[in-house]
Amino acid sequence: MPKSLTKNKNEKPFKLTLKDKAVKSAKKSARVPGVPAAITLDFAREWTQPRISKKRFEHVCGVAAVGDLLAKKAGVSRLLVGLACYLHDCCKETKDKELIEKARAFGLKLTAIEELNGHLLHGPVAAQTIKAELKITNVEVLASISEHTLGNAPMSDISKVVFLADCLEESRPKDFTEPIWQALSVPVPGSNKKVNLDRAMLVACDLSLSHLLNVGKPIHPKTVDVRNHFLGIVRTVEKSTN
Ligand SMILES: [Fe+2]
Ligand SMILES: [Fe+2]
Repeated sequence: MPKSLTKNKNEKPFKLTLKDKAVKSAKKSARVPGVPAAITLDFAREWTQPRISKKRFEHVCGVAAVGDLLAKKAGVSRLLVGLACYLHDCCKETKDKELIEKARAFGLKLTAIEELNGHLLHGPVAAQTIKAELKITNVEVLASISEHTLGNAPMSDISKVVFLADCLEESRPKDFTEPIWQALSVPVPGSNKKVNLDRAMLVACDLSLSHLLNVGKPIHPKTVDVRNHFLGIVRTVEKSTN
């Protein structure tokens, strides 16, 4: 992780022990529209834990830790990011067939590639499950969870933070994470933003596409649309400053 993205000079280096991964910033849920008061970060973490393996739970806690760091840098709600991070993979270990059945039952429209690759639905199905079971209706939390695998065009800053945190969790390979960290630290021309979320999204999409091509996996059309969306944003910003 580049030094510029550690907390600050006087704080301890960013650690990713399991203890530290438990984001403690919001023991009690602030009153936020669409988030029941009982739904705290602790609650979300504990609700997810029994639904996934120990290894996946460590990933989830790692995503929440990176998400909290990025939320502070991006100036977005740490509570909403934290909730989305803790809940994003709650359906990741659901079988493909069941994900397809659940998606249909929730009334989601499936594309041909999703019919053949049910795992692509674990985000949208998670968002619907959380809405139904936890009564979370906050659109930013639900969209962030739904969009965490394929992204969307456009995306809110909260959704970008959750998507990027999922990419940057510490178990991901360094040749994937380092270019994204570097893109995050590129100054946004004409802005005082501390992280360049759009450039990081573009780099993450490019790397994902390149990986899918290398391993011969199918590419969801949305992945291409999202990549082109962020390429357009980055190019427009560059042109406006040249
Ligand atoms: Fe996921
Ligand atoms: Fe994940």
